[in-house]
Amino acid sequence: MSRFSRMSSLQLFVLIFCTITAIWLTMQFVVFNTCWHAAKYVPTNVQSLCQKEQNYLLLRVFEIAKGEPQCIKLLKIFEKTVNAYGSKPKIFMITPTYARPVQKAELTRLSHTILLVTNIHWIVVEDAENKTALVTNFLSKSRLPFTHLNVPTPPAMKMTKEDPNWLKPRGVLQRNLGLSWIRKHVHPDEKGVVYFADDDNTYDLDLFEEMRYTKTVSVWPVGLVGGLMVEKPIVKNGKVVGWNTLWKKDRPFPLDMAGFAVNLKLILDHPEAAFSLSVPRGYQESKLLKDLIRVDQLEPKADNCTKVLVWHTRTEYPKLKQEWKLSVPSNLHMEV
Ligand code: UGA
Ligand code: MN
Repeated sequence: MSRFSRMSSLQLFVLIFCTITAIWLTMQFVVFNTCWHAAKYVPTNVQSLCQKEQNYLLLRVFEIAKGEPQCIKLLKIFEKTVNAYGSKPKIFMITPTYARPVQKAELTRLSHTILLVTNIHWIVVEDAENKTALVTNFLSKSRLPFTHLNVPTPPAMKMTKEDPNWLKPRGVLQRNLGLSWIRKHVHPDEKGVVYFADDDNTYDLDLFEEMRYTKTVSVWPVGLVGGLMVEKPIVKNGKVVGWNTLWKKDRPFPLDMAGFAVNLKLILDHPEAAFSLSVPRGYQESKLLKDLIRVDQLEPKADNCTKVLVWHTRTEYPKLKQEWKLSVPSNLHMEV
């Protein structure tokens, strides 16, 4: 007689019950425990958080591994593999910035927009002789993947509060330094797009998803610029055939810096394409784009340029009349 047939039906029931419970507990541990663990870190958007954490952690590890060429080499291979799995092309966003009373407020607002964008690398370039403590500390607590650079605009070319010479260009050398960094550090196989985002504009989150898949140079309307409610490319049958621009409308590319993005490969394939301190105001965009593309090759975005997803907002210079009267500044030892 077999052992099972000698058991009472109660014993058999207990045995089956215990076996099922054991299997169930094992499943709980192996399967549910991992899900539960992951859920703690992924409360809302799985993809965006994972990607951001990856970028952030990689940058931190690169920082720690400085001066260890073997580690850096391995990390680069690892980074490439991770990026190859990331489905979305990366946005390289270059932002020139300069010290003024509203600088931290502008950067704070802009950084909160970027925090909501996946797979983006922020290249912040200070118009300054040295990197400032304000921007350095700001970026390190921003929780964003970033690169911090600096280059001063020569004093003769610099616009000041007392002498706001409208002919002087802004952010030119800073954007060029951002481009050089990209050409030097970004892997040629990386899929991506380059965008020049001034620190004072207002950006709709949809704009980033529009520009992300740019094949050559994409364009879209910009609100509140050039003396109009909206400056926009005129699109016929999916092609740009003109512009509604009125300010300096004879420019080869009469659009604002906020109104276009360039495919990363195009930037890497044209090392000569850059901005210049010696072109007249308003011609920076044309200076860069004429080396990269013809107007009829532009890719219209934002529903064939029918939507405004970025505004050329400009922040009023704050009224500090009372401040100038003080012998001790109101913000002594206090960053504003
Ligand atoms: C317009 C365009 O939107 C800019 O893209 C263009 O650079 C600029 O004209 C120009 O004349 O070159 P606007 O609002 O007049 O922009 O310029 P700002 O917003 O004052 O400056 C553009 C960017 O350059 C900002 O990110 C700003 O922080 C930075 N900047 C400005 C500097 O780095 N240094 C400066 O001395 C001034
Ligand atoms: Mn501006």
